[in-house]
Amino acid sequence: MTDHRSPDARFRTSLLEENDGPATNPTDNRTMGEIIASRFSRRGFLKGSLAVSAIAATVSPLALVSADNARAAEGSAFSFDELEAGIDDKHHVAPGYDADVLLRWGDPLFADSPEFDPTKQSAEAQLKQFGYNNDYVGYIPIDGSAEHGLLVVNHEYTNSHLMFPGIVKIVDKDGKKALEVAPLSKEQVDVEMAAHGGTIVEIRKDGGKWQVVRDGKLNRRISSNTEMALSGPVAGHDRLKTSADPSGTKVIGTLNNCAGGVTPWGTYVMAEENIHGYFSGELPADHKEAANYKRLGIPEGAYEWGAHYDRFDLAKEPNEANRFGWIVEVDVNDPTSTPRKRTAMGRFKHEGAESIVAKDGRVVFYLGDDERFDYVYKFATKGTFNPNDRAANMNLLDDGTLHVAKFAEDGSVEWLPIVFGQGPLTAENGFADQADVLIETRRAADLLGATKMDRPEDIQPNAGNGKVYVMLTNNSKRKAEQVDAANPRAENAFGHIIEIVEDGGDFTATKGKWEVLLKCGDPSVAEVGATFSTATTANGWFGMPDNCAVDSAGRLWVATDGQGPKATGRTDGLWAVDTEGSARATSKLFFRVPIGAEMCGPLFAPDDQTAFVAVQHPGDGGEDWEPFGRPSYYEDLSTRWPDFKPDMPVRPSVVAITKQGGGKIAV
Ligand code: FEO
Ligand code: CA
Ligand code: CA
Repeated sequence: MTDHRSPDARFRTSLLEENDGPATNPTDNRTMGEIIASRFSRRGFLKGSLAVSAIAATVSPLALVSADNARAAEGSAFSFDELEAGIDDKHHVAPGYDADVLLRWGDPLFADSPEFDPTKQSAEAQLKQFGYNNDYVGYIPIDGSAEHGLLVVNHEYTNSHLMFPGIVKIVDKDGKKALEVAPLSKEQVDVEMAAHGGTIVEIRKDGGKWQVVRDGKLNRRISSNTEMALSGPVAGHDRLKTSADPSGTKVIGTLNNCAGGVTPWGTYVMAEENIHGYFSGELPADHKEAANYKRLGIPEGAYEWGAHYDRFDLAKEPNEANRFGWIVEVDVNDPTSTPRKRTAMGRFKHEGAESIVAKDGRVVFYLGDDERFDYVYKFATKGTFNPNDRAANMNLLDDGTLHVAKFAEDGSVEWLPIVFGQGPLTAENGFADQADVLIETRRAADLLGATKMDRPEDIQPNAGNGKVYVMLTNNSKRKAEQVDAANPRAENAFGHIIEIVEDGGDFTATKGKWEVLLKCGDPSVAEVGATFSTATTANGWFGMPDNCAVDSAGRLWVATDGQGPKATGRTDGLWAVDTEGSARATSKLFFRVPIGAEMCGPLFAPDDQTAFVAVQHPGDGGEDWEPFGRPSYYEDLSTRWPDFKPDMPVRPSVVAITKQGGGKIAV
């Protein structure tokens, strides 16, 4: 393969989705970090702060006073005692709660699974064990139980420098320290491929504590080598045919499954996000997919899979990348079922796929495309949900209408249908049919004039109040002249949250109203322009909203991605956010992750008595390992969470949070 990676490319796997991603939107559709970064970097305690012994950076719980943009508020409606924000090598939860590690990378899932041995990991073992970098967490009850069900978990990607010994060396080069990164062996690539995908595992609560049912008959691992079917309008299209699959209907594997969802009919949906990192090589000259791939940043080449498998080398299989970037649906009731890539839902860097049943029975999925200047989508099924016949719902996702959002200055939002033959989506613009439109969803949305957003991530409809919450992580590249009402800050380092109400309370509506619920960041720094309420403490504010959950009381919980010593002086975590009444825009810290990690999940059990959270890439250096201040890698980790054993590396894990003595997580 053509290796155009920089020597430390492997470290960039965590950065594929972050704010130095490709930002591939070339259109001119309308569209501070430095202030706070420099503020934090000036703090003495952050100098050289990545030695674990020196990272007890905490902030005081004093209420904030100089919040120019804040709403006045009397206090949070959440009664738990707030956790103190900070940075160290452990996880922390608010007082009065237990946060128990439930599933770690490498944990056995089947009766015959080998125990985890990081020095002897193999693809065969990994396929019988919990995968890497847990992201989306869903719960599908068994017999309607809130204490016995299937946990479905996405494994988004791998960090080889944290997983394998011998990848990184620090060497002296011309009198300076430099990183040397060894290439992966084919066996290690195979482990990576086996550690991607998803896990379906039976869990049960016994005596107030969750346990994994190791030999549950529905337990399953899905990986980058699981055979899948393409279905919907693009299945069988010429642009998806490869030498291994001349039918264009069968795909091997799924990639970079970020957030996702559980459908009303109890299937598991996995969103394929940063697919560009897996492809390497160069397209043949003047290849017809060149512009399509460029719009998605393909190839990026952070992974070395193309060196061992032709399908990831564009020079050898130029159509393969069109077979990724879809929503995948898995029937969890049959562990031998073939997962289906539902092409009607579009192809882009899918973040999640949370859904809700509309008044007329159609099902609406909200979909983010996580890239700077990309779009917010929703998909409405053509057919209606039948709550009495599961089988009747199994192909609902093959037929429906994908829409993209256009946010107007007057607080209205229009959902523009992405339908071949309508508006600019015609042969004149290079689309021959709906399949072409869906393969190039981003270009179709560009032509429709959709609003370029600040990294749309998880989007959560709330059945309780009819509102839809849109997490927008950040966008340091937005220039002052690109600011618009829905993306109101230039150099948006800390992100914001938009709230949408669809017209008539109908989730299928093509029009609605929106407002900014929250501009994130430190409200004590006036230039940041954060809008947390005045009741929000110095622990309660956050930046970089990514995933979110709504509990059954209809309250919003926000998980973050990208905080840390330089950005905000605190690790990522889970915050409870008031959305209603005088406490609106008040936020409280509930849980925080160890250094280097991002907070994924989160999910509330149906009885609200458990919050499941996913700790992703603990111990990853992220931005903080350069320029060689404290690289974190297998032999020299910034944390050994969650086992804290000298012979055990960091292990991304799902954590189950329960209230001591039982009861709902929050009242
Ligand atoms: Fe994988 Fe956009 O977070
Ligand atoms: Ca995410
Ligand atoms: Ca993320």
